[in-house]
Amino acid sequence: MNIPLIFLIIWLFEDRFLQYILCHRLPQTGIQGSKNHLRGTNEIDNIWLKNLATYNINTHESYETRNSKKTKHSIVKDTNTKSNGSFPSLIDVAPLANITANATCGTTYPGSDETFCKLGGSSQCSVCSDTVTDKKHSIAYAVDGDLSNWWQSPSLEQGSQYEYVTITMDLQQEYYIWYVIIKCAISPRPANWILERSIDGTHFSPWQYFVANEEDCWQRYGLLATTSAAANTVPADNETLCSTFYSKIKPLENGEIHAFIAKGRPGCVSSCTVVNTNELKDFTRARYIRFRFQKFNIPKDKYSSLSDPSFLRRLFYSIKKISVGAQCICNGHATKCKRSFDLKSQCDCTHHTCGNNCEKCCSLYNQKPWKEGTASTVAVCEQCQCYGHAATCRYDAHVDAHNISLNIYGEYRGGGVCINCSKHTSGINCEKCENGWYRPSDIPPDADEPCLPCDCNPFGSTGICLTHDTEFTEGGKVVFILDYYL
Ligand SMILES: *[C@@H]1O[C@H](CO)[C@@H](O)[C@H](O)[C@H]1NC(C)=O
Ligand SMILES: *[C@@H]1O[C@H](CO)[C@@H](O)[C@H](O)[C@H]1NC(C)=O
Ligand SMILES: *[C@@H]1O[C@H](CO)[C@@H](O)[C@H](O)[C@H]1NC(C)=O
Ligand SMILES: *[C@@H]1O[C@H](CO)[C@@H](O)[C@H](O)[C@H]1NC(C)=O
Ligand SMILES: *[C@@H]1O[C@H](CO)[C@@H](O)[C@H](O)[C@H]1NC(C)=O
Ligand SMILES: *[C@@H]1O[C@H](CO)[C@@H](O)[C@H](O)[C@H]1NC(C)=O
Repeated sequence: MNIPLIFLIIWLFEDRFLQYILCHRLPQTGIQGSKNHLRGTNEIDNIWLKNLATYNINTHESYETRNSKKTKHSIVKDTNTKSNGSFPSLIDVAPLANITANATCGTTYPGSDETFCKLGGSSQCSVCSDTVTDKKHSIAYAVDGDLSNWWQSPSLEQGSQYEYVTITMDLQQEYYIWYVIIKCAISPRPANWILERSIDGTHFSPWQYFVANEEDCWQRYGLLATTSAAANTVPADNETLCSTFYSKIKPLENGEIHAFIAKGRPGCVSSCTVVNTNELKDFTRARYIRFRFQKFNIPKDKYSSLSDPSFLRRLFYSIKKISVGAQCICNGHATKCKRSFDLKSQCDCTHHTCGNNCEKCCSLYNQKPWKEGTASTVAVCEQCQCYGHAATCRYDAHVDAHNISLNIYGEYRGGGVCINCSKHTSGINCEKCENGWYRPSDIPPDADEPCLPCDCNPFGSTGICLTHDTEFTEGGKVVFILDYYL
């Protein structure tokens, strides 16, 4: 035996040589090997004798299946979850609104007072002035919660255009609107007007018409009149009502108008706290509310007075308070709606949902697709199994269909894919290691630092090894081909 051959044999048994073979050739076929596992096993001999290992790596799926035995968790499924969705209670959102009116008494001719008189009782008269506090009748007074002040429109004496006055409320965000209540001030309720809704502030559609005469419903709006306070049953979720009940001339002051938007409609379940159909959701949903006043209420015996200018100053609209009963749009995932720092209403999301409207699952809860909670079903977002190595996951329908994502109950159910696995982990569940790293079989995937560097000789190696011991022993076929190096 000559000297070089002895050196060769010594070198062969040296660890580095094994590293050389394993680390160098494996990556070319997508092979990943763990040096630690191979050392001291029978396979080693085969490898360095045959000089090349072609590791036919198993599919992702089967690897996951093998691994599942080890990764089963002791977490038990929470069967105590409420079976119904959660819905916030109604809040009055009128005080949050940006409210505008296109005509206000005392602002018509800046600096000049406008005289008006009450329609009822003795002919009490006064003036509006935008510069004197207690003569001011700004529209903001309709939503300030103070019943001693009120908004008032210019009287008809100022011009015939003041029979048509529009008030617009921007609620700053969309809500489901359940009711709108108006409390009038020192004038009767309007005779004819339209309550409208809008999502974008440009396109408005009617919610309800209010008229003094039943014939006006048919003649002006082509609808049959509702004469009672509120219809007990409304045939369709999107039907626009025409009501005569709230346009009566009496009382001459402090009259109220109640507009119930969802009440009595098919999409409103028994107690009517949950909007149940998409049609009714569309119908009740609004960010903007508009009041289009179109006709004054005039006592019949006063019709002859309309030619008298001093009578015209008795005709105007006035409002003490507007209430808007609204429900935050939380998609069945919140029982509360809280006020955020910017004065917006924000769903207090539960069921691991996130977003202003609980419209998505929180970042680590995408094992199953997001679903809306309804009156009869709850849809809780499920946490992804990322072994504590990712803060985010996404739902992937393809992964779901192939049963390759492990859930926190140790089952291959759902489509959660962990994003940005940390600590050199990788894989759908952060259960693997990145190239160049491996996880020894005695280290669980949820260990703080599950992956160790491959420790391959940088000379003649790409540094990639089997990412997990089990890949070699339990896994795919290992094929050895004679290498030309020896
Ligand atoms: C309120 O609405 C008016 C008219 O739409 C707009 O000009 C004004 O900027 C709004 N104000 C606030 C505080 O949003
Ligand atoms: C207020 O706006 C409405 C349109 O919404 C218009 O028909 C009406 O004439 C306006 N009124 C005044 C006094 O400008
Ligand atoms: C209500 O909805 C039905 C069906 O969705 C539609 O045909 C009808 O035009 C709607 N009616 C109104 C007033 O929007
Ligand atoms: C769920 O809703 C149904 C009807 O929608 C009701 O009968 C039941 O009491 C509700 N259950 C819970 C837990 O709220
Ligand atoms: C996934 O699992 C479900 C039930 O657990 C089964 O019905 C389905 O056939 C599986 N799909 C695949 C691709 O294995
Ligand atoms: C993942 O990491 C990349 C690169 O660092 C970053 O751009 C991306 O925003 C991260 N994604 C998430 C969901 O954290």
